[in-house]
Amino acid sequence: MTTVDPLVVDVPDATPHRVTVVGSGTSFEVLPGERLLSAARRAGIWLPFECGWGSCGTCKVTVVEGETKLLYAAASAVDPRDGRRRRVLACQSTPTADLKIRVAQSSDSSTSRPPVVDHFGQLVAREDLGPDVARFRFSIGAEAAYRPGQHAILDLGAGLRRCYSMAGLPGSSEVSFIAKRYAGRPGSERLFCVAEGEQVPMELPYGDMFLREGDDPVVLVAGGTGVSAILAMTTQLAMLAGGADHHGRAVHVFYGAGATSELVCWDELGRATASLRNGHLHGALLDAPGDWHGTTGFVTTALAEHLPGLTDAMFYVAGPPPMTNATLALLRDNGIELDRIHYDSFG
Ligand SMILES: Cc1cc2nc3c(=O)[nH]c(=O)nc-3n(C[C@H](O)[C@H](O)[C@H](O)COP(=O)(O)OP(=O)(O)OC[C@H]3O[C@@H](n4cnc5c(N)ncnc54)[C@H](O)[C@@H]3O)c2cc1C
Ligand code: FES
Repeated sequence: MTTVDPLVVDVPDATPHRVTVVGSGTSFEVLPGERLLSAARRAGIWLPFECGWGSCGTCKVTVVEGETKLLYAAASAVDPRDGRRRRVLACQSTPTADLKIRVAQSSDSSTSRPPVVDHFGQLVAREDLGPDVARFRFSIGAEAAYRPGQHAILDLGAGLRRCYSMAGLPGSSEVSFIAKRYAGRPGSERLFCVAEGEQVPMELPYGDMFLREGDDPVVLVAGGTGVSAILAMTTQLAMLAGGADHHGRAVHVFYGAGATSELVCWDELGRATASLRNGHLHGALLDAPGDWHGTTGFVTTALAEHLPGLTDAMFYVAGPPPMTNATLALLRDNGIELDRIHYDSFG
């Protein structure tokens, strides 16, 4: 099945363009419709980036000469002032003429992360976990290098690119994702149509969601399929707890969903949390059954109950935008500094 992404701008230009990075003595070619960031990576030229998707703004470069086209006009990192300053997102822009660009950031903020690599992932298995929620296991034929919590960008065909967070640990030739199907929406519908044995191009890893070292308590907050990233990070902490790195760091995992059937991987999360010396799992259900021992309400309700004792923690949050926005507002209202918060908003 081929699904064209209705949100993506068509680029009629058929000419490759040359991009020169002012002050660096380097230049690279961009194929028609190709993203500046992808072309630079293909040429082995470093440009700053983080999410690869249009939400963080890290990849903004200044266009000194030439013109570009924004491929996704609704990208949340686009600022109305960018046009005047001729600042463009390298991850969401393609040149329509030869370009000269200036890269503001001189230090490479991505050196502590594994480099982004293009893979073809072959679907090995799909495991249905709950109503319209499944785990997809892809073989990538090479060792997967990423930090638990980071995401991949899957090319689901005809310009349909979507982000999915890796749900397992790196180091094997398999990557897995926990995803939800949203009826009538192109990306998730297409993912659920991928047949076993079919290959899907994917780039990984992207993103800033990964555990920071230190002794501070860790708070992991998942809403819905945000459990994908949070499960990977909890499993990583459980692995560290079994090794020499174990220092009994307090770990609180908060996980919210609508109903029990949507609280997928609850038992897996429970086992990983239980193997920590100081691990705590808190659940929140909107529609809770009579024998539910957790919180009835949103995941933020559960988090708010415990937050007074956790203000010195590092916070990692993943889930749909209403959930991440509510969590960020709660943390801000409780005086948690932004440098203690890392999050992925799944929208
Ligand atoms: C960092 C990150 C990690 C994610 N991890 C998971 C996960 O583990 N599991 C999971 O189920 N979902 C995850 N998502 C959400 C997932 O990427 C899709 O948004 C979701 O599957 C719905 O896609 P859709 O096409 O069905 O819906 P749509 O509503 O059609 O699209 C989803 C969203 O993608 C954005 N978008 C669409 N096209 C573009 C584009 N070209 N460039 C930039 N943004 C665009 C729009 O804001 C839109 O709201 C993640 C999202 C992000 C950003
Ligand atoms: S906005 Fe381009 S890398 Fe995040």
